Parts: sequence; C-alpha cells; structure tokens
Amino acid sequence: MKLNIAVLPGDGIGPEIVEQAKKSLDAVLKKKGHEANYTEAPVGAVAIDQTGDPYPEETHQICMNADAVLFGAIGDPKYDNDPKAKVRPEQGLLAMRKKLGLYANIRPVTTFPSLIHKSPLRSDLVDGADFVAIRELTGGIYFGRPQGRSEDGRTAYDTNVYTVEEIERITRLAFDFAMKRRKKLTVVDKANVLATSRLWRETVQAIAPDFLEVEVEYMFVDNAAMQIIQWPKRFDVMLTENMFGDILTDEASVITGSLGLLPSASIGVHTSVFEPIHGSYPQAAGKNIANPLATILSAALMLESAFNLKEEANMIRTAVEASLEQGKVTEDIDKSNALSTSEVGDWIAEYITSM
Ligand code: IPM
Ligand code: MN
Repeated sequence: MKLNIAVLPGDGIGPEIVEQAKKSLDAVLKKKGHEANYTEAPVGAVAIDQTGDPYPEETHQICMNADAVLFGAIGDPKYDNDPKAKVRPEQGLLAMRKKLGLYANIRPVTTFPSLIHKSPLRSDLVDGADFVAIRELTGGIYFGRPQGRSEDGRTAYDTNVYTVEEIERITRLAFDFAMKRRKKLTVVDKANVLATSRLWRETVQAIAPDFLEVEVEYMFVDNAAMQIIQWPKRFDVMLTENMFGDILTDEASVITGSLGLLPSASIGVHTSVFEPIHGSYPQAAGKNIANPLATILSAALMLESAFNLKEEANMIRTAVEASLEQGKVTEDIDKSNALSTSEVGDWIAEYITSM
C-alpha cells in the first residue's frame, strides 16, 4: 500500500517530534512492504511568517489531497500576550478544522503503568482508568455567529450554535465507539441552563433506541469536571460539545500522568488529522529534549484508523512500551538518564526494525 500523508509540523517542538514519528512509520511500513509518501506544508506561526496566513490555501490543498494528516503542534508565545494581533497561529487550527470538516476530536485517556506515579491523583484512583473523550470540533461557541464587539467597544459577544445534523453525526460516531468498547456513553452538557444542551439531549435520546445495548447517561459539565478526578474509572465513552470538550479533555489527559504520551485523532469529512495532545512547548523548541512519544503514538493511531493497518499500529505501540520499560526516554520521564528526542526516535525505529 502507498500511504499518502500530509505532514504539518507546525510550531515549537512540532518539527522535532514529527520527525521521530516519521522514523517509526518508515520502519514499520518498510517491514510490512508498504510505503509512505510525505508532503510537508506549513501551518501556524511558521505559516504566518512565510505567507501571512496561518493556514495557507496551498497547505489546505495538500491536506485535501492526502489520505491522512500528521500534525505536530501550533502556537508561539510572541502572539499570546498581544490581544490586538491581527492574525494568530490558532486561527490556522480553527480554519483547518472547519475547512477539512474535522467534526470529531477523539482523545483516548489511558494510563501507562510506568508513569502512574506522575499522576496528580492517587494511583489507586487512576490505575486502570480507560476512556475516550469525543469532542465536537467544528460547531458551538468557537464558530457561532454573531461574534464580536458592539460599536462602542464596551460589549463583546460569542454565540453558541448547534444544529441537529451536527449533533447527530457525532452522536452516531460516539455510539459506534461505545459498541466497540464497554458500551457505556456519558453525554456531558449544561441542559439545566443552555438551549443548545437541551437540543443535544433531545438528539441523543432520539438516536439511543438504535443502540439499545449501550447504556446512556447524561451529566452536567460541572459534575463531569468533578467526576473525572473523583472516579475516572466510571467513564467509557464521553461525548460533549466543542467548548466543554476543550476544557474537559485537558483535565482528563493530565490525570494519567502521561500527557507527553497521549495521541489524538480529529475525524473529518475530507480527511483526518492525527496529533499529540500536548502543545508546542516553545521553551524546548530546537533543543532536542522534547518527548516524541505522543506523536509516535499518533502515527500509530493514524495507521489504525485511517489505513486500517492494525498490526503495524500495534508494532509501534509495542516499541513505545519497550522504550518506557527499558528507560529509553526523554528528560520529562527520567531526568538522570535521559535520551534526546532524536535518540528516542532512533531507538524506537530500530526496535521496530528488529521485531
Ligand atoms: C485544543 C486547543 C485549541 C482549542 C486552541 C489552540 C484554539 O486548545 O486543540 O484543544 O481550543 O481547540
Ligand atoms: Mn484545548
């Protein structure tokens, strides 16, 4: 098989970590008689520097023509404290989501035994936690209009908008996930206050009879924020809207103690994007110290969900587990015997080759 992959390294540590993921991909594909064809394109602050646009049309076309997109990270501190900046790297991410129709962001929350001690939670609470957060990504308050300021500048507004079609599409996907897992779906909303949330509930309730085996529960977002830290093992598949999902998935990812290891997928109408959960970590950019494992695991997720190459995906995962067990890790995991970013990438690629 020839895999046509768009590679968007982005900002900060993006280029370094994406490079390591390509090494793993190449190693496993070569072994199995496949081949990847990478087309690289700029996004984020680097794209602003090069073209003035954080998601240039050329980058968009490259993504549209690819079977899948491997993405690094976006964000540059020079924009963060400038509320008046006309273009921001994050706009590139939002434009990419909208134009590629990336409606579902999938974040698996899993623990790694060797990293549980890094969790901010007691290990008995988090050990064995295993759920998937499914966040709607192209609707809600991020994209709702009107958005802006009144003429005198003294009032600002954002609008939360959802259509039945948008909710149905992601709800069916969430039920499909639940069917392949422990058959429990938790819908997170604020239906005691928001009209959009009430439409979510109504829409999920209408679809639920098609999936009678799945147990459905509804939970208010404030309660969900609490339950994630109190009893994370209660969740199997969590479904929620864009803004709530943004907040809850950061919370959920950090309880495992392995933020640097968690991959994510954004499933789209035109193509899908695979990226680490963590950000661009600008302080580490160019220093060859960042942890490449989340990006390497994102490549595994890509092989599995975009190309149906399950065995290949699992070979990458096995190699990552071996690197953790044998302490072939970056300084965020082991300060005293740390390898560099590229050394970890080489070690994992060599491990795959020798499998
Ligand atoms: C994320 C990020 C983005 C979001 C930002 C950078 C726009 O926080 O991917 O979760 O809010 O969606
Ligand atoms: Mn976020």
